[in-house]
Amino acid sequence: MSREVIITDPADDRLGDYVALRESSLRRSLEAERGLFIAEGEKVIRRAVESGHAPRSFLLARRWLPGLADVLDRHLDVPVYVVTEELAERVTGFHVHRGALASMHRAVAPAPADLLDVPGRTPRSRIAVLEDLVDHANVGACFRSAAALGVDAVLVTPNCADPLYRRSIKVSMGSVFHVPWTRVDPWPAGARLLREAGYVVAGMTLGEGAITLDELAARNPPRLALVFGTEGHGLAASTDRLVDLRVTIPMMGGVDSLNVAAASAVAFYATR
Ligand SMILES: C[S@@+](CC[C@H](N)C(=O)[O-])C[C@H]1O[C@@H](n2cnc3c(N)ncnc32)[C@H](O)[C@@H]1O
Repeated sequence: MSREVIITDPADDRLGDYVALRESSLRRSLEAERGLFIAEGEKVIRRAVESGHAPRSFLLARRWLPGLADVLDRHLDVPVYVVTEELAERVTGFHVHRGALASMHRAVAPAPADLLDVPGRTPRSRIAVLEDLVDHANVGACFRSAAALGVDAVLVTPNCADPLYRRSIKVSMGSVFHVPWTRVDPWPAGARLLREAGYVVAGMTLGEGAITLDELAARNPPRLALVFGTEGHGLAASTDRLVDLRVTIPMMGGVDSLNVAAASAVAFYATR
């Protein structure tokens, strides 16, 4: 453990990747500029490295060293910053309950066409598009459902919240590391790419003229892209005009709409 670096100054530049983890707009620019994301907790760090993401550094309270010793030993060239929990809290802005953080390199995102058709692999038959979701927890929950219910890939639109933001990763239980995903830009023009690749593009909506989810499942298209709209106003009008089908999950009890992550789980299950 000779590469352990004990840090006692919260202003130490080497902790720059970990500052103000709760300030999402600051983090968005810092993470994009440095090409990183933060993994929090032993399990999530393990899942990130096991799925091929490369660590830049680790930030740990001393008592978490033994639990991650095997991971640290596999990355001998990566610095391990050892701090008190109090100092970690001062730097990150919150109490790090799970005691361990890692700053990870962000891999270059694949082009959507490459994600959909990987040479030598069965084409992805069922994908989800998350349009402009604003809530990181919803993004994480959609990924968790996608992984659990066999969705092959996820596309996120240019303004959709980041799947690699700390909260998205946490809520997804690390599924964001396993479900292939990328950003589709521009959107909704990118829906044409899906059509050309043979997908039936189904907009999940509460609008008029929709078929029910049961009807969609009965049609069982060989390639299906399920598009989910933003939390506030749902699918953009421009997207609604481009989709092949509108699909609704009938509801009872005078409820206006389902939470988007709940709607995704229902739709993924029904079209499995
Ligand atoms: C919270 S809803 C948005 C509600 C918005 N007021 C609307 O009218 O669409 C977010 C997204 O979840 C999906 N959704 C929620 N409930 C749904 C339902 N019953 N049927 C189909 N999609 C649903 C849609 O994709 C929707 O755009």
